[in-house]
This record gives sequence, C-alpha cells and structure tokens, in this order.
Amino acid sequence: MTTITICTTCRAEATREDRESPPTGEAFLRAVMEAAGATPLRVRGVACLMGCNHGCNAAISAPDKMTYVLGRFDGNATDARALVDYALLHAESSGGIVPFRQWPAGVKGHFIARVPPLDDEAG
Ligand code: FES
Repeated sequence: MTTITICTTCRAEATREDRESPPTGEAFLRAVMEAAGATPLRVRGVACLMGCNHGCNAAISAPDKMTYVLGRFDGNATDARALVDYALLHAESSGGIVPFRQWPAGVKGHFIARVPPLDDEAG
C-alpha cells in the first residue's frame, strides 16, 4: 500500500515566518485526505520531515518501492489533487518509479529527493 505522509508543521513560503496562524501543513493534510477519498492510498500526518525551508513537504512511500520526497507546495486543493494523482501512479508502478511522461503537471518541479528501498540490493 502506498502511503502519503504530510508534514503537518510545514508553512508555505508566503507564511514561513508567521507563528500566529496554524501551520499550512494542517490544511494540506485535510486537503490530501479529501482528495484521496475512497482510493486505496493511506494518508498520515507527521510533525516535520526536516525540510522546513522548502515546505510544504510530503513523502510518498510503499514497501519495496522507491520513496519520494516532494516539497514547495502551497498546500491547497490543487496541490493535494496532484499529489494524490501521483501517489496513485506510484501505487500502480513497479518499484515506485513513475515515468516522467505520466507525472501530473502539479508535481513537476516539486521533487526534493528519492530514497531506494532498504532491501534493494541491485541499486
Ligand atoms: S516543518 Fe515541515 S519539514 Fe520541518
């Protein structure tokens, strides 16, 4: 099962220094949960993925598949839809690698890192 992990403490660039309002990541988590709806995706929130300077951040992961970290999202419904669409492709893919031509436009330019699965001896 592919899991979307949303950083709930992230602040989008426009409000990065704002310590009064709730973190953007809280709203992003709600938007992603709504966009994921009845899909087989799992959605969870965690506090800080240690990429605070390029929030909002998220990770897409699944057992035995490549993990991807994405950031620089505004945390709105459009971002949520793009992230969910990408996660569905990740779920369908072999090894978590989605061909570039299939990437939803909304995730392009948002990739931060990828991490191979721990048991990947070929990579
Ligand atoms: S607050 Fe989101 S990565 Fe640190």
